Parts: sequence; structure tokens; C-alpha cells
Amino acid sequence: MMEYDVPTQADNAILTFDVVNVRAAFPILHQQVHGKPLAYLDSAATSQKPTCVIEAIDDYYRRYNSNVHRGVHKLAEEATHEYEQARVKIARFIGSPSHTQIVYTRGTTESINLVASAWGDANVGEGDEVLVTHMEHHSNIVPWQMLCKRTGATLVVAPIDKTGTLVMDAFERQLTERTKVVAVAHVSNALGTINPIERIIELAHGVGAVVVVDGAQAVPHMQVNVEALDADFYAFSGHKMCGPTGIGVLYGKADRLEAMGPYQGGGDMIKSVTFKHTEYNDVPYRFEAGTPNIVGGIGLGVAVDYLTGVGMDKIAAYEHELLEYGTAALQQIDGLRLIGTADRKAGVLSFVLDGIHPYDMAPILDRQGVAVRTGHHCAQPVMDFFGVPATARASLAFYNTRAEIDQLFVALKKAKEMLA
Ligand code: ALA
Repeated sequence: MMEYDVPTQADNAILTFDVVNVRAAFPILHQQVHGKPLAYLDSAATSQKPTCVIEAIDDYYRRYNSNVHRGVHKLAEEATHEYEQARVKIARFIGSPSHTQIVYTRGTTESINLVASAWGDANVGEGDEVLVTHMEHHSNIVPWQMLCKRTGATLVVAPIDKTGTLVMDAFERQLTERTKVVAVAHVSNALGTINPIERIIELAHGVGAVVVVDGAQAVPHMQVNVEALDADFYAFSGHKMCGPTGIGVLYGKADRLEAMGPYQGGGDMIKSVTFKHTEYNDVPYRFEAGTPNIVGGIGLGVAVDYLTGVGMDKIAAYEHELLEYGTAALQQIDGLRLIGTADRKAGVLSFVLDGIHPYDMAPILDRQGVAVRTGHHCAQPVMDFFGVPATARASLAFYNTRAEIDQLFVALKKAKEMLA
């Protein structure tokens, strides 16, 4: 273990968390890349999957692959039961009062698009404003821009400061009776900033705005309770929280969902159809046209059980200490600039190295077995704000170790030697 200047309380949380046992559940982590042990530091892009999730997917396809909500045969009944049980587990995991408030989607992006279309088109008009922040992912900007284009509403952007923190005074001033929607990330994927989401929601509700939270980078890393937050809509993705790709969730308040028309038309979202008239299905099925990602839902249910077993509070504490260790390590590299230094951060270390383009750095890190993401992280306005074309981003999960951060540190030193 390297010696960095890390606050002393770091040791306890790390030592009481059994990361060796946790890592044993993730087969992919135990491999070499280019002859070096893999240090997977790209969990904000997608998390790895524990054996229980992999086996649940395998079991579904081997034993009871069948469509849901349609057949009455044994396989179809089992598939429907498992898929719907997963919805109940997900509801419990995020503190949703009912499983009927959990809409399955393809992921966060589709969840936000669903709200922007099905709710936005009916409730936002000319002269209205949609308030986003400067740190949003493209998926929480573009659907709102598209809504504004369709309706004549205006997109308003709340500023961030040089640490990557939302400027709350300005945000508060931008809230007016014209603000119909506030769309905000709970945790920034590019900066790691944890937004004061309770306060944001409270302020937005003060002017009667509806709040849509992008929780893609929050739900995998901390205990989230949507009811306590009082979020109107809360979106997240399965693949970032140990579940399969192609499955995600839109949570909505019951009255909001009930009042919304469908997003897409097709099978399963109807009660009855004639050529004259279609009666739409109840919530949440009204928003789930077509054969869904059945195994995705089942796999996400297993992932939720797994995360609950490890403990979200333990995960949050362990990742926080790992973030402190990583921050201390990177700060010792001459010419390294951290992008995103907010007081409240999740496990994201975005950085640039003087004189070295992140795209040149990435292959060198890769040869050292270190997997990080380089690029604009689907947050080009964040890059513009910090005046960089791209960053390298190491993003942490509860299966990472200090040794992997050491490996990143050594690989960065090597990249500097080779390129600077
Ligand atoms: N939104 C994902 C990321 O931050 C893909 O990498």
C-alpha cells in the first residue's frame, strides 16, 4: 500500500468492510489485462455484475424463458411472477410507496424522455421555463431542449462554481412562477458532485415546479428514499447498480403518473382496442408498450437483493473513504488537476494532466491494466465550463480497493514519463 496523506478515519471504514469477500462475487474482476491485474475504475459508465445476477439471467433463459402478462402456461406464469416481484423489490429499495409507481424503462435516458414527452407535452407551453443545471448529463439536457422546441418553452441553466458545486443563490433566483420543471442530477457523472437534492426539491416545489431527478449515479452508491425526498419523478439505470444493461426505472408520484397519457403505443399498454377507440392500461403498464426487457427486470431485482445484502450505508461509507484515498493519491501527481472538487462528492475522480491529452493517456493506462473512461462523459457543457476538451475519469465502486488506486497512481506516473 502506498503512503498518501489521507485523513486517519479512512482506515476504520475500509478495514471493517470485507472487500475481499465482496470481490469474490464478481468473476470479471479476477483477470489480467495486458499481463497486469485488471483495475476496473469505470463503474460510473457501467458497474460489474455479481455471480447471482449472472446466474439469474442464465436461469431465466435455460429454465423459464417466456413472455409476461400474456400466457397462462407454467413458464409464462413464472416469468410474470419473477418480473413483477422484481418491481416490488425495486420499489422497496428506493422507498417508493407502491410498486405501481415503478415504471420499467430501458434506462435513465428513456425515463427522462418519457417524462419530457408524456408529462411535458401536456403541461409545458409557450412562456414556461425548464430549469436544468450546468452539470447535467446530455440525457438530462437534450430531452428538455426538444420539449422546449416543441412547445416554445425556454431552457434556463443554473450555474456551477469552479469546484463543480451548484450555485444555490443563483438557482433560487432563477426559480419563478414560470418554472414548470426542474431537471437535476442527484450526483454528477462527470464531477461526482452530490447535489443538495432535498433543498432543491423543496425550493422548486415552493414555486409549483415539478422536479425530475436523474439518479443514475446516486442509487448505486447511497441509500435513496424517493418518498422522503418528495421527488415528483426519479430516474435511474439497472446497469450502473450491478444489474443488466437495457433496464431502468422511472419512479413517479402516483397522482402524476395517473394523470399522464401514454409514451408509446402498442401491446400491453392497453385495456381494449377498436379501430375507433383505445382504452389505455393502468399505471405503470400504460407506459410499458411492447414486450419488455423481462430478464433485465428479473436481473435488476436480484441486483437489488444483492446490494441490500451488502448494505447501502456500508457501500456509501466504504466508497467515501476510497474517494478520500484516491483524491490524496492524485493530488500528489505534479501537473494533475482534479475537475470536480465539491465538498460533497461521490466516488468520481475526473482529472487532466498538464500537457497530456486524455486520449493519449488512456492507452498507456490500459497497458497497465487500468480501465478508466476518457472523453466528455456525455457532459460537454461541463467540459466547456472547465475549459477542457475532455477528462480522464476514474470512477469507484464498492468492489474497488486501495491497491487499484495505487495501480492507477503508478500508471499515471508512467504516462507522465512517456508523454510529458
Ligand atoms: N453516463 C455514463 C457515464 O457517465 C455512461 O459514463
